[in-house]
Amino acid sequence: MLGAPVGDDVFGEDPTVKRLEEYVAELLGKDAALYAPSGTMTNQIGIHVNTNRGDEVLLHEGSHIFVYEAGAPAMLSGVQLRTLSGENGVLDPETVRASVRPEDVHFPRSRLLCLENTHNTSGGKVFPLEDFAAAATTAKELGLKVHLDGARLFNAQAATGLPAREWCAHADTVSVCSSKGLGAPVGSLLAGDEQTIREARRARKAFGGGMRQAGIIAAASLYAFENHVDRLTEDHARASTLAAGLRDAGYRAREPETNLVLVAVDQPLAYLQALAREGVLATPGKPGFVRLCTHLDVGDEEIDAAIEAAARITTSTAGR
Ligand SMILES: Cc1ncc(COP(=O)(O)O)c(C=O)c1O
Repeated sequence: MLGAPVGDDVFGEDPTVKRLEEYVAELLGKDAALYAPSGTMTNQIGIHVNTNRGDEVLLHEGSHIFVYEAGAPAMLSGVQLRTLSGENGVLDPETVRASVRPEDVHFPRSRLLCLENTHNTSGGKVFPLEDFAAAATTAKELGLKVHLDGARLFNAQAATGLPAREWCAHADTVSVCSSKGLGAPVGSLLAGDEQTIREARRARKAFGGGMRQAGIIAAASLYAFENHVDRLTEDHARASTLAAGLRDAGYRAREPETNLVLVAVDQPLAYLQALAREGVLATPGKPGFVRLCTHLDVGDEEIDAAIEAAARITTSTAGR
């Protein structure tokens, strides 16, 4: 980061940001990519460039965009969200087909389908490639665009051995984060075709995400994509060890597919406070669950410590 060559990225003059954008576009099999401060921003820019005001966006009821992005699609793009149900974040083609509105002045225009891989609120579940292709193809046949929230897309790659770009081939725009398991302090990218990313650059400026000498932080993202993708399998193995240890300690902990472990507890917020007092930080999951996450900064020692800490917590909040 200290040695990164920098320039003014709003003028398109930061060589490190440019290198990062080219690297990630290539990795995802897209023409171009745009660097932005957060995954929320790249999702919101993705929505903005794929829709017009008054349009309807279809997405899973547990999707990050719907649950955790502060109502931004309505606030920033004037679109309406229509939530769909599906096991583990997977939307089947029939559900998509049945949710697309007919052409009629009474209805909003169904314009965009957002899919998430891996799926956060389902505990890091992979969206199987075949199912992903089927949902996306149906959406496209019906005239919709497809946006992939791939904040943890490389975890899906690590879990399946399939290249991330296989999912991206079915999406018009893709958002990926360097700041999650990949370990960079900050930074996400939106990838797509040249024209879409040109529009995205304008939207990023409007949303306040145009950064000047951003190469300093982009250098960390570039390092993360170049060096930390292959090691995600280590996080998955540790998540599995963590889940097994928690089950041995009497918890109901789902076997993870990737790096997120959902643990059922009676009082999640009180439980998280008790866990924090033991030196382990975690977040709420879906209702009735807490979510533990493995990533670059969590090693075997931390896994052992987390299991021991959880084992010490009393039954009143844990419900073991
Ligand atoms: C699936 C998913 N998408 C998007 C985001 C948003 O990323 P950021 O926190 O960088 O805004 C997250 C964050 O946890 C996420 O889990």
